[in-house]
Amino acid sequence: MAASEPAQTLLAIESSCDETAAAVITRDLRILSNVVSTQAELHLRYGGVVPEIASRAHVERILPVIDQALKSADVTPDRLSAVAVVTQPGLVGSLLVGVTAAKALAMTLDIPLIDVNHVEAHLYACRIAAEKDVFPAVGLVVSGGHTHLFDCHSPVDFELIGATTDDAAGEAYDKVATILKLPYPGGPNIDKLAATGDPARHPLPRSYYHDDRLLFSFSGLKTAVLYLVEGHPPHRRDRHELTPEFTADVCASFQEAVTDVLVKKCDQALKVRHRKRLLVGGGVAANSRLRQKLQQIGNKRRVEVVIPPLTLCTDNAAMAAVAWERFARGSFAELDLDVTPGLMRKRPL
Ligand code: KG4
Ligand code: ZN
Repeated sequence: MAASEPAQTLLAIESSCDETAAAVITRDLRILSNVVSTQAELHLRYGGVVPEIASRAHVERILPVIDQALKSADVTPDRLSAVAVVTQPGLVGSLLVGVTAAKALAMTLDIPLIDVNHVEAHLYACRIAAEKDVFPAVGLVVSGGHTHLFDCHSPVDFELIGATTDDAAGEAYDKVATILKLPYPGGPNIDKLAATGDPARHPLPRSYYHDDRLLFSFSGLKTAVLYLVEGHPPHRRDRHELTPEFTADVCASFQEAVTDVLVKKCDQALKVRHRKRLLVGGGVAANSRLRQKLQQIGNKRRVEVVIPPLTLCTDNAAMAAVAWERFARGSFAELDLDVTPGLMRKRPL
């Protein structure tokens, strides 16, 4: 490329859950803009994402968010080389808003449309953050909707090797926060309070911890927290208020149980797959205790642990830069592109 030639740029759109996001990323993975409009305040009173409210908010926000992403990147639409959009997994109504916007742009600008898997994108955030090739590796995606382990052969070739049998870890965080009457999303609030509590105060279950299978289960843990809270009236000033000390200790004990299991399963996966690198993505990867413990096993086992900065852990569109990998392989989507709510419909390159 001649020095004066402008870098190729990609517009990426993400609307799979409750964040409306758009980003502009160059082919050498420089993030020129990364705009995220969170709907957390709309879902706060329900303690979780309400799909109808989410899709309506995406409709209102998608165009201003795209506009802002282009403006802050100082890129005009005619400069774009491609449009990428997350098509799976996620809420159907939410995904459709992003996909419809991306199709309209690809058609009017006459540029390639590229479909992106949200889970692959979460782990690609590690590639962006590391500024070097990070594949092959074991990948842990841990978020509100997912707790999955992958053997990542390449950025676009993931083999599912482990999963939750019930709740995702982030979902457990959000539900335990509701039990403790902490605001949604629960993860960051529990993380903060846990730092002031005693992680050994309440022994809580660690499902599959002593099991060779790469399985997770968090619903029993969530129920154990519920019984703990319901069963300890002495810790309450009244029926509706928990003491700050009790809440902090429950947060710390819960967080210790979740992170113990996540770290143990990563360790097992690294061993059975003989990988020397671990990639971690998704909202729960923002958790301070998880980051600390993963770095510790990384040091102990001489495994490189790559965890992106917080802004690339929670849902964002910059991580959809994995689309450049498909662009390089000439793997483009058609304008009849559809959305898929569940995880993984493998599309060959
Ligand atoms: O990846 P993400 O933004 O959306 C999904 O794809 O689900 O993840 C959101 C999840 C929520 O459940 C939220 O409570 C959790 O990530 N989360 C955290 C932290 N920050 C966000 N969980 C634990 N500790 C955190 N610091
Ligand atoms: Zn996500």
